[in-house]
Amino acid sequence: MPSRRPRADVLLLFNQVGSDEYEELKNVDPATLGFTPAYPIDVATVQDEINAIASALEKEGFQVRSVNVKDDLRILENALRRKPDVVFNLVEFFHDRQGLEGAVAGLYDLYQIPYTGAGPFTLALCNRKPLAKQVLLAHGLPTPRFRLLHKPAIPRRHGLHYPLMVKPAREDASAGVSRDSVVYDYAGLTVQLERIFAEFAPPILVEEYIEGKELHVSVIGNDPPRALPIIEFDFSELPSDTPRIISYDAKWNPLHEEYHRIHTVCPARLSQRVAKRVEDIAVRAFQLTGCRDYARLDIRLDKKNRVFVLEINPNPDLTEGVSFMESAEKANMSFGATLRTIVEFALARKITPDPASRDRTTAPQ
Ligand SMILES: Nc1ncnc2c1ncn2[C@@H]1O[C@H](COP(=O)(O)OP(=O)(O)OP(=O)(O)O)[C@@H](O)[C@H]1O
Ligand SMILES: [Mg+2]
Repeated sequence: MPSRRPRADVLLLFNQVGSDEYEELKNVDPATLGFTPAYPIDVATVQDEINAIASALEKEGFQVRSVNVKDDLRILENALRRKPDVVFNLVEFFHDRQGLEGAVAGLYDLYQIPYTGAGPFTLALCNRKPLAKQVLLAHGLPTPRFRLLHKPAIPRRHGLHYPLMVKPAREDASAGVSRDSVVYDYAGLTVQLERIFAEFAPPILVEEYIEGKELHVSVIGNDPPRALPIIEFDFSELPSDTPRIISYDAKWNPLHEEYHRIHTVCPARLSQRVAKRVEDIAVRAFQLTGCRDYARLDIRLDKKNRVFVLEINPNPDLTEGVSFMESAEKANMSFGATLRTIVEFALARKITPDPASRDRTTAPQ
């Protein structure tokens, strides 16, 4: 692990435009929900999360400045011109486009400022789910079989086995994923394709639905990366007619009952042999797609415990106690220590006059 550099100057960059939807949740009375919530409703806003990360990093001895770039290139460049030692990159969109996430990371490269997480190549690759899946398949790593559609038309004999999952190919954060995303026959598939094409930009991914456990595998580090304790999702409290998936509402909407009926179990209830296979696949997928520092892989097991990578999330959510940070805590890494470690990985890439080390700032191909 790289050595700690006291009082390094960390620039925490994020992009929040307009009001935060979660702000309104602070006034909701749980008694009006019509069901018993299992989790707090007033979830952290983006600003709350930034404050939590900034203060944890300060406690770790860094000097932290956080800047909301507000979709404004001048704000972004002014912040970079002040030459921080390192950028903590929490920018996920620009002009509302996730596809520009990589372009923002590219700007840090042009300014020669080290930054946390993945580089432009990896961010762009993983944002294109079908392309990332092709890369996995080309290297013998498993991902559900799929077809990519540019129009809402698919022949009846499409060669995939039902049930199928219909989802936007370039969205993130479960956008477009609901109970209707799982279809069981050709009639259901064509209806859902019409619906999803009306709402989301193509291409649309139709992939085989993997019936079985869902796992989130967080990976940390570079030389070499390692998997943290695996998270398993427990869907047993969902009504029996609800598909066992993490829909948009289940993930992001605390006013929806599904949000309160899916729970995490960490470490996952897997045999050592299966856990090892999942970890190996996760780490290989991390390396293959050029992830750096930290990432989360969404994985499913089928009934025979065969492993399928659903997607690779470089720079995943760092909310305390959730997802990546839940796994880190299980590995006895506190929130602050995990953030510090991520900053140290980035600082270790600090550009030096040595051309050999300069190459390390680009993702492996
Ligand atoms: N092929 C599949 N088989 C079974 N379930 C699936 C499949 N694809 C997606 N899902 C379900 O839908 C959820 C969201 O899908 P996915 O992770 O691909 O989308 P995302 O929008 O990128 O989500 P995230 O919020 O994790 O970034 C998954 O967590 C899983 O529950
Ligand atoms: Mg996902």
